[in-house]
Amino acid sequence: MQQVGSEQIVFTRGVPAVEALPNALISECMQAVLEGPDGRSILQYGHNGGYLPLRRLIGEQYGVEADQVLVGNGSLHLQDILTGMLIKPGDVILTEQPSYDRAIKTFRRRGAKVIGIPLEHDGVNLELLEEAIARKVPTFMYVIPDFQNPAGVTTSAAKRQALVDLAERYGFWLVEDVPYRTLRYSGEAAPLLRDLNPKRVITVSSYSKLISPALRVGYLVGPRDLVKQLVGLAEDTILCPVLPAQAAVVEFHKRDYFASNLASLKQLYAPRLQAIVQALKTHLPDVPFAEPEGGFFVSVMLPTASPNLLARAKETGLVLTDGRAFFADSLDGSGEDQGERFVRLPFCALTPEEIEEGVKRLAAVIEQ
Ligand SMILES: Cc1ncc(COP(=O)(O)O)c(C=O)c1O
Repeated sequence: MQQVGSEQIVFTRGVPAVEALPNALISECMQAVLEGPDGRSILQYGHNGGYLPLRRLIGEQYGVEADQVLVGNGSLHLQDILTGMLIKPGDVILTEQPSYDRAIKTFRRRGAKVIGIPLEHDGVNLELLEEAIARKVPTFMYVIPDFQNPAGVTTSAAKRQALVDLAERYGFWLVEDVPYRTLRYSGEAAPLLRDLNPKRVITVSSYSKLISPALRVGYLVGPRDLVKQLVGLAEDTILCPVLPAQAAVVEFHKRDYFASNLASLKQLYAPRLQAIVQALKTHLPDVPFAEPEGGFFVSVMLPTASPNLLARAKETGLVLTDGRAFFADSLDGSGEDQGERFVRLPFCALTPEEIEEGVKRLAAVIEQ
């Protein structure tokens, strides 16, 4: 068993475990595609909506044609292009509260007022969502329905239906971001929002957590006209996506590495999830948290703000993210206080021993 003593434990980044990155398989796939029949065309400008075989493959997975799929340089980049097209300064964008910090920043950078709707253990509070919509209909609502970053929450089937019903009734887009959905370690998946209403839903996802983040292969699935406009914007912005990486992803599937790699990821991560759940129950028994069935994150909302938590944690060799980054504006001004009490704990890149030690240190710092 690995000994964990005084070394630093970094609970800050939702990144894959470095030992899970399949460098040898990617190298094989890259070599095969560069030496294959498309070897030169993937080194040339082109394929502005992404490498066509990959658009087709993703289209098959989502039951749509290739022209409803845009593959670009990571999903955050696609989100940026999408928001550049949809948001006008002063628009309201709704998110879950808390939500992915970089998404909040991306929307704000385009001039949006970003309002977070409190996230419960089965999705957002629907009453408060309706109240926010009644104040001003958003351009879109951004949600991470599966194993949410940062909270680890999965939206229930009933709340998914409620979200698409509201989007239809009030006429706004739902942007569902699902990079963790496939990393389910137990239980059954609820439907995608797009399965409930494809006309109102734009789905964004990525291979960052399933193969490698640095390949920068993310994608968006949406209505044909919207995707067509986005392809034009993507062309104007980046000229051409990273085609060799996209072709390597196709090859990764063709060689059946995707399924075996996914199985190895689950095998590595599932015990890490168990370890964090167990550690929280043991060391912080009075702090409730949503127990996820997959993904990268568990988070806790401490009952009271713990002054200088980050600095005091650091003194014990525990590195935490500032919880306030995950909070947008709120309907009632509670975001700041909640952010101070919120601790995100990404567990995939730490061993079970490090997780146990990290949570123990967290508990000790809180009790000081
Ligand atoms: C919810 C969510 N969306 C998007 C991203 C960005 O992913 P990508 O590497 O595809 O840009 C992340 C990365 O952590 C994420 O957690």
